[in-house]
Amino acid sequence: MNLKEFIVKYIKEDDNGKPYISEELEKILNETIKNEKRVKHSLSVGSLSFDIAKSNHLSNPKKYFVAGALHDIAKGLSKEEEISLMNKYYKYYKNMPRYCFHQFLGEYLVKEVLKLDNKSILNAIKCHCTGKKNMNTIDKIVYAADKIDPLRGYDSSYMVEAMKNDYKSGFLLVLEENYKFLEKKNKSDESSINRLSNQCFHFYLNIC
Ligand SMILES: [Fe+2]
Ligand SMILES: [Fe+2]
Repeated sequence: MNLKEFIVKYIKEDDNGKPYISEELEKILNETIKNEKRVKHSLSVGSLSFDIAKSNHLSNPKKYFVAGALHDIAKGLSKEEEISLMNKYYKYYKNMPRYCFHQFLGEYLVKEVLKLDNKSILNAIKCHCTGKKNMNTIDKIVYAADKIDPLRGYDSSYMVEAMKNDYKSGFLLVLEENYKFLEKKNKSDESSINRLSNQCFHFYLNIC
């Protein structure tokens, strides 16, 4: 189905015009993500993506809500399921670190389980974890909202404000902070930086 049909079927709106998901979609996300905290994180990323889109005066902010709310839909897959689906549908990326498999399989599940066929939402989900070069508006907003979700439990408020003021410069700030974080982590864990993130950092920050 297209985005319009998806919104009619699964997305509601409160009195202040804020979107939220229907009980039916909540049930599907609980069954696929299989973890209450992660479902909450996904919905929080949806809500933040919506707020960022709105304060940047972008058209159709509900599209950003949907992409954010669905971005971690593949988080509940087992290791075996991940590997078998990656081998079947995403062979080109199967040598990437396992922690980012869920971005590719998220695209797959949104198409297969939710039957949503919207290229820009699917593409944003497909790069939300690693980033990539040449990201468009929705890619940048979902990537950033995922990294700065207030539920992550650290003070990301300055980045949230930056994204709301101007998502283009806000995205560069989030990317820079994420690069520093991964660089630190990478000293103890070789696999944290991958080829897509490297391309993203190189393209936007001119480093790596
Ligand atoms: Fe994710
Ligand atoms: Fe996430």
